Amino acid sequence: MCGIIGYVGDKDSAPIVMAGLRRLEYRGYDSAGIAVISKGRLQRRRSVGKVELLSKMLEEEPLKGNVGIGHTRWATHGKPSQDNAHPHTDCGGKIVVVHNGIIENYIEIRERLQAEGHKFSSETDTEVIAHLVEHHLKRLGSGGKALSDVTEPLFFEAVRQTVREMEGAYAVGILWEGCPGTIIGARKQSPLVVGAGQGENFLASDVSAFLERTRKVLFLDDGDIVLLNASGIKLFNVDGKKREISYTNVQWDQTMAEKGGYKHFMLKEIHEQPTAVEDTLRGALLPLDDKTMKAEFGFDSEFVKKIEKIQIVACGTAYHAGMVGEYVIEHFSGIPVHVDLASEFRYREAPVRKNTLLIAISQSGETADTLAAVRENKKNGGVHTLAICNVVGSSLTREAQSTFHTRCGPEIGVASTKAFVGQLTALFVLALHLGVARGRLSADEGLKYAHELLKLPQFMRDALKLDGDIKAMAERLAQRGHYLFLGRNANYPIALEGALKLKEISYLHAEGFAGGEMKHGPIAIIDEGMPVLGIAVKSQILDKMLSNLQEAKARGAHVVAIVSQSKHKLKGDIDAELAIPVTDEYFSPALTVIPLQLFAYYVAAARGCDIDKPRNLAKSVTVE
Ligand code: G6P
Repeated sequence: MCGIIGYVGDKDSAPIVMAGLRRLEYRGYDSAGIAVISKGRLQRRRSVGKVELLSKMLEEEPLKGNVGIGHTRWATHGKPSQDNAHPHTDCGGKIVVVHNGIIENYIEIRERLQAEGHKFSSETDTEVIAHLVEHHLKRLGSGGKALSDVTEPLFFEAVRQTVREMEGAYAVGILWEGCPGTIIGARKQSPLVVGAGQGENFLASDVSAFLERTRKVLFLDDGDIVLLNASGIKLFNVDGKKREISYTNVQWDQTMAEKGGYKHFMLKEIHEQPTAVEDTLRGALLPLDDKTMKAEFGFDSEFVKKIEKIQIVACGTAYHAGMVGEYVIEHFSGIPVHVDLASEFRYREAPVRKNTLLIAISQSGETADTLAAVRENKKNGGVHTLAICNVVGSSLTREAQSTFHTRCGPEIGVASTKAFVGQLTALFVLALHLGVARGRLSADEGLKYAHELLKLPQFMRDALKLDGDIKAMAERLAQRGHYLFLGRNANYPIALEGALKLKEISYLHAEGFAGGEMKHGPIAIIDEGMPVLGIAVKSQILDKMLSNLQEAKARGAHVVAIVSQSKHKLKGDIDAELAIPVTDEYFSPALTVIPLQLFAYYVAAARGCDIDKPRNLAKSVTVE
């Protein structure tokens, strides 16, 4: 996720902003930038790559002044490049903006401003904010007044008008040359905090950026607009009404602050999943009104009509997402789907059919086997490669003909969690898109399912409330040697993913099976007290899954069932149940995976494992 730091005070701002950017490096980023009001003029430096490069740039061309903002960017709109790095400016270079989040209606705003004569110099959604503030300042400052006469209340009003027009999620920090002692911040759905120091104040995306200078923190709420200068902080709501400020004294140390108060990045990322899905849907489905379901996959409707087969390739957790994709795409579109481990596909000599859509799924976009599979397919005359990827500008996105970006933010824990639900979301949207385009779903049905998808983030938040129950259960079961995970249909891959998560971070032996396969072998390993975690949510074949769990129970297993928050027939026959909200069976994997991720996490925690950096594993496997 991008990082923001802003400083206003009596010290030289650039070194403080740069220290803040270094503190934000843990969030992952691809470029960085800084802007300072230096001798009354706004000046900025930006660079692709590490903060250290930006630092070198500043050594050669220093910036001096008491007000500054900085940003580490993780690309969402437009490749990582100097032009796309923040801060972004208006036409005159007098306003600068740093922004985290996604402005959904940026194209519409940009077109309107371009028609008024505004010139844009980046591919980002963020740049519209600077131009919109410029637009409102001109409008509000008209009537013969020069811009330089406009003072803080007008700056505030221009920003307020700007954020009222912005749809989507944002945390912004804005400077304007015409009001050189003030930083304005505003937030909606993206975190933004203010640090109150002695003769200096800070604006940041998280407290770790300024923790070494102050622990007195104001956590902003959605709709807040905040004005910071050296001597004070003023807080307003989006209607311009003043708000009371209530500070929190933050006790976290630096590492805790980076993890948002969670013990590990993995746990933080598990809890970020509703936002990851929300952001991915926001980028994919919207604008979603009553009539249209928009989704961009980079191929036209003529090609969709011709697709004869979809081939999915991926590794690890992304492979499990691909397996869910097989069920979901076949269900909604009727197109045959084949899923392969990329490491197998690349050597398998799979016959290439005309009109095959190859989908490569990867969080990092750098996995050697996935890249090789894509290249192999190209060599053999494969038709179109679609990448589903979390990293803009990664090798995979450069190899593929088109990319659907999941917008999960950087994932730091080696065991993938939020990237997985982002991949599922992409596949759900693709399945609906193909279903409507092929006529298997009517436009109305497509829209109905799209609305169901939009409910997922809230359902995920509800599922996350099981955290405490799962912790207690995991602590009870953490010392068993073997674990079995069962699922069926679209939840069969989730059983595999549950087992993989447990293996990865706790080093325990775990296996995932399709429930119906039990009698063909796996049932032999069940003995007294063996934990069997089964997914038994609302489904056309729920009864069959319940029978599979009863078979396990009859052989002495300790059965934990993940069930829908509704009645089912198994009461009394299971040892524990974890109830999650009811959604469409084919979207349910985004919910059922949550208890299994938490289970793996708490078992590993109980065993004292190094959860974010498990032994023998790497986050991105760039060699074969
Ligand atoms: C490694 C990681 C896994 C990940 C897999 C694929 O094995 O440890 O968490 O699922 O690579 O990575 P990708 O970046 O291609 O999704």
